[in-house]
Amino acid sequence: MLLGAQWGDEGKGKATDLLGGSVDYVVRYQGGNNAGHTVVVGDQKYALHLLPSGILSPTCVPVIGNGVVVDPSVLLSELSGLNERGVDTSKLLISGNAHIITPYNVTVDKVTERFLGKRKIGTTGRGIGPTYADKINRVGIRVQDLYDESILTQKVEAALDVKNQILSKLYNRRAIGVDQVVEELLGYAAQIEPYVADTVLVLNQALEDDKVVLFEGGQGTLLDIDHGTYPFVTSSNPTAGGACTGAGVGPTKISRVIGILKAYTTRVGAGPFPTELFDADGEALRRIGGERGVTTGRDRRCGWFDAVIARYATRVNGLTDFFLTKLDVLTGWEQIPVCVAYEIDGKRVEELPYSQTDFHHAKPVYENLPGWSEDITKAKSFADLPKNAQNYVKALEEMSGAPISAIGVGPGRDETIEINSFL
Ligand code: GDP
Ligand code: IMO
Ligand code: MG
Repeated sequence: MLLGAQWGDEGKGKATDLLGGSVDYVVRYQGGNNAGHTVVVGDQKYALHLLPSGILSPTCVPVIGNGVVVDPSVLLSELSGLNERGVDTSKLLISGNAHIITPYNVTVDKVTERFLGKRKIGTTGRGIGPTYADKINRVGIRVQDLYDESILTQKVEAALDVKNQILSKLYNRRAIGVDQVVEELLGYAAQIEPYVADTVLVLNQALEDDKVVLFEGGQGTLLDIDHGTYPFVTSSNPTAGGACTGAGVGPTKISRVIGILKAYTTRVGAGPFPTELFDADGEALRRIGGERGVTTGRDRRCGWFDAVIARYATRVNGLTDFFLTKLDVLTGWEQIPVCVAYEIDGKRVEELPYSQTDFHHAKPVYENLPGWSEDITKAKSFADLPKNAQNYVKALEEMSGAPISAIGVGPGRDETIEINSFL
C-alpha cells in the first residue's frame, strides 16, 4: 500500500506509476476527483484525478474501490482524454458499491463553502464532503443504482427532499428537480456499465492467486477525517485502515505500507501548518518545486520538513517504508532547517498534540542541516548523492521512524534512487 504521509501532493502518482509495471492491480480506496496525481512518462505528462495511476501501465488492472466517490462526468472525460492519447483503459474495474457524486453534491459543496466565509475549509469544490455525508446519512446514490431506474428515482427523491429545503430556504438557491438529476445520471449508465464489477471479490481472488495488489491513497495522513487536522481535512480515510474498508480487503493481507514523504512540506486549503514559510524561502520552494495544485490551480503553501508529522504518519499508518520525494528541490540551500519538535505554550513537545488548540499554537523547533549545491537529478544510487544530501536523508530517516527505501530526484519515472525493493 502506498499513501500520503503529509497533507497530500507528496508525489503519490509518480510513486504508484513507478511500481505500476511490476504489480497486477492498482486500487484507489478513498477520495475522488479532489485528488490530482501527476505522472511523467518520458516527455508525456498526465494529470489523473479519479483514475488510479496504474492506468498508465499496460499490464496492470486499475480498480476504483467501494470507498471512492465517483463523479461520472469526470470519470468519462478522464477516460476519453486518456484514450485520445493512446492509453488503453479497457481493463478498468469500478465497484458497484462506490458512491456517486451527483450534481447537487457539487452545488452543496460550493454553497456551503461560500456561507462559511472566512471559516471555510478551502475544499476543492468537487462535491466530496457532501457525497460522503450522504453516504453516512444513508441517502447516497451508488454506481449500481444507475441500473435500476425506479430505485434511482426513489433515492434521488429522498436525497433531494431535505436538500431542496436547505438550498431554497437557507441558501436562497433554486430547488433542484428530481427528473433532471435522474435523467443526467441515467445518461452515463451505459458508458460506465462495462467497467462495473464486484471488485471486493476480484481483489480477494487475486490475492489468493498470489497476485500483487497495490493500494493507492489519495490526499494524505493529515487530511484524514479521523487522524488529520480536523476540521481542515477531507471527508475520507486516506490512512492505511481506509484501504481495508475502501477496498474490502482484510488487514492481514497487507504486507507493506509505504508513506510518500516530501523532503519539505506543502498544504493546499485552510488549516494549521506549523512549518509554513511566508518569506523568500517559501517562495523559492514553491517556484523550484512547482507547487501549484493539479486540481484547482491554487498555489500550495510551502514550509520546511516536519519530523513530528512524519513520526505521526509512521504511527497511525504502521508504515514499513518511506519514499522520500523531491529531494532535488532542496539543492542550493546552504542550511536546511528541519522541524524536530514543537514548542507549545513554552513547553517542548515531541509528538503531534491531539488537541486542536495546542496544534494551532505549535511553533516549530528547528535544527539546521548542512545543504548541498551539486545537481542530484542524475543520481542513480545513494552513493551518487553528495555527502550532505546523504546526511539529510539519514537524519530524516532517523527522526521519522521508518526506513527510507526510495528517493525522488526528479519528476520522471527513472529519476528515482531505489534503496530497498518494494516488491
Ligand atoms: P500526488 O498528489 O501525491 O500524486 O502529487 P502531485 O502530483 O499533486 O504533486 C507532486 C508533484 O511533484 C508533481 O508535479 C510530480 O510530477 C512532481 N514530483 C514527484 N516526485 C518528484 C521528485 O522527486 N522531484 C521533483 N522535482 N518533482 C517530483
Ligand atoms: P492529492 O491526492 C492536497 C484538501 C483541499 C481542502 C481539503 C478538503 O493530490 O494529494 P475536499 O475537496 O477534499 O473536501 O477538500 O482537502 N485536498 C487536498 N490537498 N492534495 C489533495 O489530493 C487534496 N484533496 C483534497 O485543498 O483543504
Ligand atoms: Mg496531488
